[in-house]
Amino acid sequence: MNFTFVTLFENLVSSYFDDSILKRAIEAKILSVAFYNPRDYAKNRFSKVDDYQAGGGAGLLLMPQPMFDALETIKQEDVDAYFVFASPVGKPFKQIDAKRLAQKKSIVFVCGRYEGIDERVVETYADEIFSIGDYVLTGGELASLVMCDSISRNIKGVLGNEESLQEESFEEGLLEAPSFSKPANYNDKVVPSEFLKGNHAKITSLKNEMSKMKTKYFRPDLFARIETRH
Ligand code: ADE
Repeated sequence: MNFTFVTLFENLVSSYFDDSILKRAIEAKILSVAFYNPRDYAKNRFSKVDDYQAGGGAGLLLMPQPMFDALETIKQEDVDAYFVFASPVGKPFKQIDAKRLAQKKSIVFVCGRYEGIDERVVETYADEIFSIGDYVLTGGELASLVMCDSISRNIKGVLGNEESLQEESFEEGLLEAPSFSKPANYNDKVVPSEFLKGNHAKITSLKNEMSKMKTKYFRPDLFARIETRH
């Protein structure tokens, strides 16, 4: 998978790939990362990329020309490019999207700044528009990294232990059950005794119960959905 980030702030994004799991995946050639800066495509004297909003309104927008030229260049160079825009007005990004997008060959994250991107750019290039939550960030970089990270861990070979993908939160629409490591007693806080006895069928059923309880308590919205499914 190749990830391309269209951003005015490459440094904000690139450092995320300098360590840990994604760094390893790049070294193993499972992932590659590229950057395009719209400023490099600006055709005005001051390499300006932003402008006032038509009809007024607070704040500046990323204007069409540098964005159109940057995105068109990418499209011409990469037939597999799939354009994902990060925006608070997008549809909510979910685990199911991370899994689906992990099957693509090449994803281009388009990161807005200021008050956003001229809508004509979005209309022309966006294959999908995602929000990572009901709050507004200063730009699309963090949101794109969030999506990139969760897509990456669903690509074969990125995680050392692929089984961990099967048992985690949102599989089956539930939050994951609590987990414990060693020791069995830490400052008088104990691991549930059943976990120490090694009866795996029992542990699985217990974890399943805990998973349901946790979802009911912390995410009644998710719980209601699985109840109607069964
Ligand atoms: N850009 C700014 N806020 C955002 C959000 N919540 N999700 C995706 N992109 C954004």
